[in-house]
Amino acid sequence: MKLNSIELLIEDKIATLTINRPKALNALNTEVLQELALALNEIEKNDNILALILTGSGEKSFVAGADIAEMKDKNAVEGQIFSKLGNKVFSQLENLKIPTIAAVNGFALGGGCELALATDIRIASENALFGQPEVGLGITPGFGGTQRLSRAIGLSKAKEMIFTGRNVKAEQALDMGLISQIVPKGDVLNAAKDLASKINRNAPYAVQASKRAMNQGINLDLEQGLNLETEVFGLCFSTEDQKEGMSAFIDKRKATFLNK
Ligand code: CAA
Repeated sequence: MKLNSIELLIEDKIATLTINRPKALNALNTEVLQELALALNEIEKNDNILALILTGSGEKSFVAGADIAEMKDKNAVEGQIFSKLGNKVFSQLENLKIPTIAAVNGFALGGGCELALATDIRIASENALFGQPEVGLGITPGFGGTQRLSRAIGLSKAKEMIFTGRNVKAEQALDMGLISQIVPKGDVLNAAKDLASKINRNAPYAVQASKRAMNQGINLDLEQGLNLETEVFGLCFSTEDQKEGMSAFIDKRKATFLNK
């Protein structure tokens, strides 16, 4: 697979996707979005990949938004097509069966904040800056920000961020629950790899089934969500990993899971 604007590295069952347009602070243009879709297709097909990390190249920016130069002359239909593409790719990312981690290494503005929001877990370097500045450009967030930000931090705080377009530093993002960890500048990719390795020590099917129950459950009422939990919980008992995990506990040894 030939990629021009992103890089895909697979190591120790962890895939790392790096948005690689440092001169434009890794802004998302059509090519980046199309290449992300291609890379996600490859990752979906590869059962040996147990976690995905997303990051941006350089120490200054994760992703500084959708590409403003590309959007500038679009008409309404073209704007919708661009939003549809971004939303399709970000939903593909959100719905990947494996856990995903955003290693936010600087600016996460507009489409960058939205990209991070489509991952399962966000960790950030101390210089990270989050924001949805779109209204200052005369547009709304278009890659999921009006939907996922409120689900992540609550409707009122999300409205305040989107209506004002103000940026939020890493410390504040942590307080808001937008991210789960802050690490020193330069350490965020290693921290994401450590986290992915920690996750990968557990039974892969159980991790993935937990993700499915949580992702689908958040859009269901509690009773339907609990039914979904019962379904995935029961399915775990048909896996070898459940037999191994519980036998290892009883035998007082470390479990060896399939595909670990
Ligand atoms: N699109 C295109 N190019 C971008 C960009 C973007 N979102 N963000 C930065 N760049 C480019 C700049 O144009 C500049 O290019 P040149 O060197 O060719 O002039 C280069 O990256 C470096 O940027 P700056 O010189 O501006 O760097 P800075 O350190 O002074 O400022 C910044 C950094 C605060 C992030 C500033 O670049 C900025 O405000 N960028 C735009 C952020 C933004 O508004 N993002 C939202 C985009 S809209 C969106 O994302 C819609 C959606 O939801 C789908």
